[in-house]
Amino acid sequence: MLTQASRRIRPHILRIVAFCVIFLVTLWLLRRAFDQPIAEPLAPVPVEDDLKDIHNRTLGFEKIFVVNRPARTDRRDAMTLAAAFTDLNLSWISAVSGDQVLDLTIPLDKEPANPPRSGDKGGWRSHLHAIHAVVEQRLTTALIMEDDLDWDIRLRDQLRTFALSTRALLQPLSILLADRADPTFPQHDDTREIVNISFSDLPETARPRTSLYGDHWDVLWLGHCRMEYPSVFDEAYSLGRVVQSNDPTVPSRNYMHGEWESAKFTDDYPDHTRVTHHAKLPLCSHAYAITQRAARVILFELSIERYTDPFDVSLAQLCEGQRGPERKLTCITTQPALFKHWKPRGWVNSASDIANLRDEWKDVAGSEIIRWSVGVNMERLVRGETGDWIDQYPDTGDEEEEEEDKVQVTEPDSNQAEKGYFITRRN
Ligand SMILES: *[C@@H]1O[C@H](CO)[C@@H](O)[C@H](O)[C@H]1NC(C)=O
Ligand SMILES: *[C@@H]1O[C@H](CO)[C@@H](O)[C@H](O)[C@H]1NC(C)=O
Ligand SMILES: *[C@@H]1O[C@H](CO)[C@@H](O)[C@H](O)[C@H]1NC(C)=O
Repeated sequence: MLTQASRRIRPHILRIVAFCVIFLVTLWLLRRAFDQPIAEPLAPVPVEDDLKDIHNRTLGFEKIFVVNRPARTDRRDAMTLAAAFTDLNLSWISAVSGDQVLDLTIPLDKEPANPPRSGDKGGWRSHLHAIHAVVEQRLTTALIMEDDLDWDIRLRDQLRTFALSTRALLQPLSILLADRADPTFPQHDDTREIVNISFSDLPETARPRTSLYGDHWDVLWLGHCRMEYPSVFDEAYSLGRVVQSNDPTVPSRNYMHGEWESAKFTDDYPDHTRVTHHAKLPLCSHAYAITQRAARVILFELSIERYTDPFDVSLAQLCEGQRGPERKLTCITTQPALFKHWKPRGWVNSASDIANLRDEWKDVAGSEIIRWSVGVNMERLVRGETGDWIDQYPDTGDEEEEEEDKVQVTEPDSNQAEKGYFITRRN
């Protein structure tokens, strides 16, 4: 009886076992197919909205470092307040001045073409201190900022659209295919025209695994004082751009005059356009995010290999592959920049330790390009106000008026009662 029953059951058991085995093998194969090998340590893959970490205190990076010379307590106080009101957690890096840098620590050529000036030495070493920290702490990504910056109250909204744009430029269209929306990345093909991807029609891309800004970047150059974009003739570049129309955080073009960003930027695009693209000829390392891989490359190239130029120029050379194509970093930027130099009220030369600017009294504090400036709105923030933000570059529809407004802080506009950018926007 019993053996007969077991004989009847045996085929079923075999089938179930075979099914389980096939199921597990399929699962294992699928996992293998989906798991591309990644050298960097993995950040946890976010569930639900995978952009939600932009709302955390480090803007979706692992840390935010601010390079600050401890003697510049004024800047540290201003940044600490701005960070408190925009809910950022800053980690301070002690910057050094040029005379604190030992010449023998600088990997100069025998007869350097551009021997570093004192300020360049300080800037070089201070940024390398921050990059050293990224390597030492094995951070997957970090944002490095200088200590005299201003940004828009809507920074997190800007970063959200920026992250979607970098993904469109860099991520494959799906986990199974290597194809990208920009067919010129990573291999440039100089027969192609510039690829314009519209922000309002972004392609679906594979969900990134290492950073919510995408898997295939090295540097996100978020704060610059000048930037160009690649043209069809630049062989070292990929050509894709993401074009976002009607970005309310972008001032109209008559405020820009091509002085602040690339001159072509204002010629090529209508008012309130933001363009996210591969960096070309960037200037000023106000704020940039780097990955662990990039941090290692930069520390090696600039501290061990060779000092050739000031820090921002050297970083630009790495972005452009000028130190050799195998050392090229993938650097993405956005125009206009998201971080700009904050110019406090006072004597102009106190705004910079490096440049020998003419002594000039500045009556009104401000920054270029940043519309709902945290710095300009600081007094309102301190008073606990949550709307009616002062717009440094309001649309008036009148070009001459806008030209005059450029230097003035304007009255708050009641349409801007946009509340709760700080506390409620966080998760
Ligand atoms: C913010 O998000 C990033 C990416 O998920 C994460 O690495 C980082 O630790 C988070 N920061 C904070 C303060 O939670
Ligand atoms: C900022 O981050 C550090 C660790 O990096 C943590 O110890 C500290 O509590 C954080 N501060 C806030 C206000 O989140
Ligand atoms: C993309 O936009 C740029 C700037 O407006 C233009 O020069 C270029 O021809 C465009 N490319 C295509 C394929 O339309």
